[in-house]
Amino acid sequence: MTIFVTGGAGYIGTHVILQLIEQGYDVVAADNFANSKPEAIARVKALCGYDFPFYEMDVRDCNRLSDIFTAHHIECVIHLAGLKAVGESISKPLEYYTNNLDSTIEILSAMKRYGIRKFIFSSSATVYSGENDMPLTEDSHTGSCANPYGWSKFMCEQIISDFTHANNGFSAVLLRYFNPIGAHESGKIGEDPQDIPNNLMPFIAQTTVGRLPFLNIYGNDYNTSDGTGVRDYIHVTDLAAGHVSAIKHLDTHDGIGIYNLGTGVGVSVLELVSAFEDASGVGIKKKIAARRPGDLAICYTSTTKAKIELGWEAKKSIRDCCIDTWRWQKNNPHGYET
Ligand code: WQD
Repeated sequence: MTIFVTGGAGYIGTHVILQLIEQGYDVVAADNFANSKPEAIARVKALCGYDFPFYEMDVRDCNRLSDIFTAHHIECVIHLAGLKAVGESISKPLEYYTNNLDSTIEILSAMKRYGIRKFIFSSSATVYSGENDMPLTEDSHTGSCANPYGWSKFMCEQIISDFTHANNGFSAVLLRYFNPIGAHESGKIGEDPQDIPNNLMPFIAQTTVGRLPFLNIYGNDYNTSDGTGVRDYIHVTDLAAGHVSAIKHLDTHDGIGIYNLGTGVGVSVLELVSAFEDASGVGIKKKIAARRPGDLAICYTSTTKAKIELGWEAKKSIRDCCIDTWRWQKNNPHGYET
């Protein structure tokens, strides 16, 4: 089976492509390098020893999509391409809505034209509203999103759901990611934010390797075990394996399936920092700062539905995540910059 992966040069995309190839799938990938680098694709090809077709393109370009769907017998699309910085989405909402919604609409339109009927979408825990009880389940309330990024994912889910119901035989899986961290065990691929990291783990890693002077801890007065924010951190290779499980699910299921991809375990900021310092053997400078607007105190998921219906569960520990992240960051202090 040939899988088309959009956003293939990204943090999630590189890890997904590697697992697909290791599982025997053929892959065609695309990326516009808006938030990634060509070196990432080169690394994946070297790791898997397979020079899969790659196209530098914006997936909103319907003509390029038609060219690809004409040239390759695509049977499933995994749509990872999109803007994903929560803070940036607040200052640039139109960029987020046009990028994330238009790309999804163009891909679904091209899939309809070419009779491609299996779709996996990179969604996010940010589609859940803030007042839900924990752990979140796939039936928790969505909407009332805290930022345009979350709303864009929420709207894409609705678009995909409506399209699925209007097209018999079309099947889709929405994967709601919690907090992906970690890196492939080779240390050759990993998370490489383009600017100052928004997310905790890359910030810790870049502080540890000396690229940043200290870590701001956004609030230590939350109603949690140590006062700092609690999240469900999932190893990126476990997340990638969830995509393979979703493909297999699509082989036997029509319609739309929604699954949370997390570990079911909440970890605080201070706990993650401590685990990383243990893994790296390096202590980092930390400062307590004001809470970050829009942050929840606690966010983690139930893993029941993905385990029962996808036969998938996360296997790696927080220590695994820290060891693998440090190997990547230590070997690549400036990411994919050559
Ligand atoms: C985690 C915790 C912060 C940075 C977002 C998106 C989510 C997904 C992952 C795309 C919070 C604290 C952070 C720092 C800190 N992205 N923190 N100092 O906000 O849970 O999720 O990124 O899909 O959709 O919403 O992740 O890593 O930014 O924050 O103290 O320098 O770390 O307050 O408690 P978040 P995060």
